[in-house]
Parts: sequence; structure tokens; C-alpha cells
Amino acid sequence: MAMRPLDRLPSIRAKLGSVIVFAVAVTILIMYVAVGFALRQSERDREFRELLGEAKGVAALSFTPAGTPSRTLTKVIGQVPSPVVVVGGGGRPLAGELAVPSSYRRALDGNIDTGTVGTREYLGVPVVRKGAVVGAVYVAHRVEGAGPLGAVAGTARFFRSVWWQFLLAGAIAAFIALFLARFLARGMTQPLRDMAGAARRMARGDYRAGVTVRSRDEVGQLAEAFNRMAGEMEGLERLRRELVANVSHELKTPISALRAHLENLLDDVEKPNPALLGVMLQQAERLGRLVDQLLDLSRFESGDLPLEIEPVSLEPLVAQVVSEVVAARPDRALTIEFQNEVPGDMSPVEADRERLHQVLFNLLDNACRFTPAGGTVRVQALRENGSCEVSVQDSGPGIPAEHLPLVFERFYRVDPARSRDDGGTGIGLAIARSLVEAHGGRIWAESEEGRGCSFRFVIPVQARPETSAVARRRSSLEAPAHSRSLAGRAKEGA
Ligand SMILES: Nc1ncnc2c1ncn2[C@@H]1O[C@H](COP(=O)(O)OP(=O)(O)OP(=O)(O)O)[C@@H](O)[C@H]1O
Ligand SMILES: [Mg+2]
Repeated sequence: MAMRPLDRLPSIRAKLGSVIVFAVAVTILIMYVAVGFALRQSERDREFRELLGEAKGVAALSFTPAGTPSRTLTKVIGQVPSPVVVVGGGGRPLAGELAVPSSYRRALDGNIDTGTVGTREYLGVPVVRKGAVVGAVYVAHRVEGAGPLGAVAGTARFFRSVWWQFLLAGAIAAFIALFLARFLARGMTQPLRDMAGAARRMARGDYRAGVTVRSRDEVGQLAEAFNRMAGEMEGLERLRRELVANVSHELKTPISALRAHLENLLDDVEKPNPALLGVMLQQAERLGRLVDQLLDLSRFESGDLPLEIEPVSLEPLVAQVVSEVVAARPDRALTIEFQNEVPGDMSPVEADRERLHQVLFNLLDNACRFTPAGGTVRVQALRENGSCEVSVQDSGPGIPAEHLPLVFERFYRVDPARSRDDGGTGIGLAIARSLVEAHGGRIWAESEEGRGCSFRFVIPVQARPETSAVARRRSSLEAPAHSRSLAGRAKEGA
């Protein structure tokens, strides 16, 4: 795209300055012409008045009060610098070198007579004594020329005489304008410079730097948007750091355990035995689970979640998941009573068995982890209006109301220290939500603090893959600002 001339200037200050100076120059030019014409008019008026004054002066002295020509007539005329003629009552010239204009009758009739002869402009006044016109006095002065051309030439002459005043006024006005423009532009562009500085600091990883919003104009709005963006970036950065910290912590624990056992085996401190190998296998499985979760999460964020829909009977699936949870956490699960209250004769739902298994496993695993010994975990299912609602209820401590909507956010844990101790990374429910929404359903949590909580999800009985695709896209777009992943943001921003 071709650059506009203004865009070539390096700063807003320079642009504003140029625009203002240009505006001032145009204004001065227009003023020069307009005021010039007006002043030229007044100059002509002044010349007219001068001529009138001279003519009246001569008229006063050229005749006696009785109406006869004065004896000092020639002397009077000699004192007037312009060419003069004194006309007698009959139209005859009495004195003076000016030719009597042909229109002299008008003056003798008592009127002021004006006109031009050749390059001369003349003016005549009647001389009145005792109420009667006794003669006339004509005074002339040189003009550049007669008619419109003469007027233009006169005006041009006038312009030539005043150009330097206008140039001086223009230069002073432009200088003041330039000074004001620089001053104003400085104030206006300060937030932009602040933003550039803040952006540089952000590039170095310092997100706290905001800019002061000084105005409500576009620059102010930009500053506001910049501050909002900086806030969100800070949140994202925190999320990313948490993720890296969490992931490395999660990976480190099983890896250290495995390494310790392997070293013991190598050093013959321990002999290979089923119990030890079992522990090692458990650690390897934990590692595998975490890697799977992370892979799942990144796959969901790129929207790549194909569902293999098949009829799934819920009751046996729940029974299987319960036995897996018990096997995975024998010490805890064995002290809890699992109640599978899903009706055995409930007709199957169309879903992706593996994904449904993943959802149920996470809900039951959570319930198992958070329910104290002697507690109960109850799973119920209900088919209604073409959809199936499943609930997993526990008798644990529950979730405080303010945390309820947040537990489905990625890496959100109500009590991070505690969750991490028993293997929680805060990914499980985020994955569960993506999976349920991919099925065209929704998931939510209800809890009364101290009375346990229940996680419920609803999915359609008949699979609707196209709905799933839409739901999946929607869920990834609607995820609350602070929970969206960096990858998701980048995609939306593109
Ligand atoms: N049944 C429950 N009772 C009390 N708090 C719960 C329950 N289920 C989930 N939570 C809270 O919600 C948080 C998020 O759960 P989520 O399943 O997403 O993560 P996690 O279980 O900590 O880790 P992961 O499932 O990824 O191994 C948990 O850390 C916990 O604080
Ligand atoms: Mg979990």
C-alpha cells in the first residue's frame, strides 16, 4: 500500500506539527487575500476622503462670501499638491491646470461629482455661497488605470506594500502553532511511549507494568485495552508457570521413587520381589496417567476429539470403574462404601465407552480421595426425556460455594497442597467437562459444605455427533478467561 506523505513522518508530534503549520499557512494565505481586498477598499475610501478634504479646502478659500472668485485664488491652488481646477458658475475654468471634466454640470447642480479621465481619478464639489452654487472645485490624483484592470493593479500594488507584514504574522503564527502542537502532542503521546516501554518490559517477562490512563480519547482507550491485555497476559503467564511447576512436580515424584528403587536393586540393597515390583509398576502407571492426561488436554484444546459411539450399559461400566478405583487406591477405597445404584435394567446409552469411562473414573476417584474413612460414595443414574443423568455423590467435606464453578477449570484445585499430596493435578474435571460436552451434554457440581458434594452430568441417550462437534467448539470458546490455555488463546487471536 502506498504510504501517505504524513505516514512518512516518524512521530505523532511531527505529524501534528506539520498539519497545524500547514493549516496556519493556508489560513494566513486566505486572510492575506481577504483582508487585502478589504483593506484596499478602505484605502480607496481614505483616498476619496483625502480628495474630498482637499476639494472642500480649496472651495472654502477660492470664493469670497459674496460669491466672487477670490483674489488669492492662484495662491490657494498652489498649496494643494494634487492637480486642481476651479470652475466658475458658467463652467469656465478660473484657475488651475486640470482640464474641466465634461461632467462639471453635476457639480454645478450641487452634487459631488466623481469620475476618471485617462489614468486620473477626479472629484468635484460645488461651491455654495448664500444658498446658491457659484462654482465648483475639481481635484484629481493618479490611479494605475481605470476599470477592473485598474482596480486589480491597484490591489496588487497594495499587496506588494503589505506582503512582509503578512509574512511576519504568518511566521509568528506558525511558530506559536508549532510550539503548541509539540506541547499538546507531548501530552497526547505520553501514554503511547509508556505503552511502548511497558511492552518492552512485558517482553522481558515483567507483566505488572501498566500504563496510566490519562484521557478518554483513542489513546486513552488503547491504554485501557493495553492494561486489560497486560492483566490477562499476567494471568496466562501465572497459569503457564503453575502448569510447568505442577507437571514437573508430578513427573518428578514417581520418577524419583522409581529411580530410588532401581538404585537399590542395582546396589543389591533390595532383592527383586513382587511387592517392590508392584510399587514400581504403580509409579510407572502414575507417570503414564499424567502423560495421558496432558496429551488428552492438548488434544481437546486443538479440538481433535473423535468419538467412537457405541451402546454402553452404565451399570456394568460403573461397577468396573469402582473396582478400578478400589484397585488404584486400596488403602483409602477399602474404608469407603461404594453404592452402585444404577438400575441394572437401564437401557444402554450411545456414547464413547472409553471417554465415559474416563469421566466416571475421575468423578469416582475424586470422591474416593475426598471421602473420609467410613464414608459412602453413591452413584445413581436416571433416564429422562431422551437424556441420561448420572450423579456421583460423596460424604466428604464438600466444596465451598465460591469454588464450585471453578473446579472444572484446568489445573484448578480447591486446596492445591492437599490435592497434590494424593496425586491430583486439577486436570481431571477439566477433561471430564470436555468429554461430556463432546457428547453434547453438560456437567456441574452441587455441594453443601461439610455435607459432601455431588457431581452430575447429563448426556443425550442418542448420540448426536454433529451436536458434539458444535458443543466442543462452543465449550472451548466459552471457557472463562482465566482458564483458557495459551494455545486456545493463540488460536482465537489468530
Ligand atoms: N468429591 C470432591 N470433594 C471435594 N473436592 C473435590 C471433589 N472433587 C473434586 N474436588 C476439588 O476439585 C479439584 C479439581 O478436581 P480434578 O479432578 O479436576 O483435579 P484433581 O482430582 O485434583 O487432579 P486429577 O484429577 O487431574 O488427578 C480438586 O483438586 C478438589 O479440590
Ligand atoms: Mg480428579
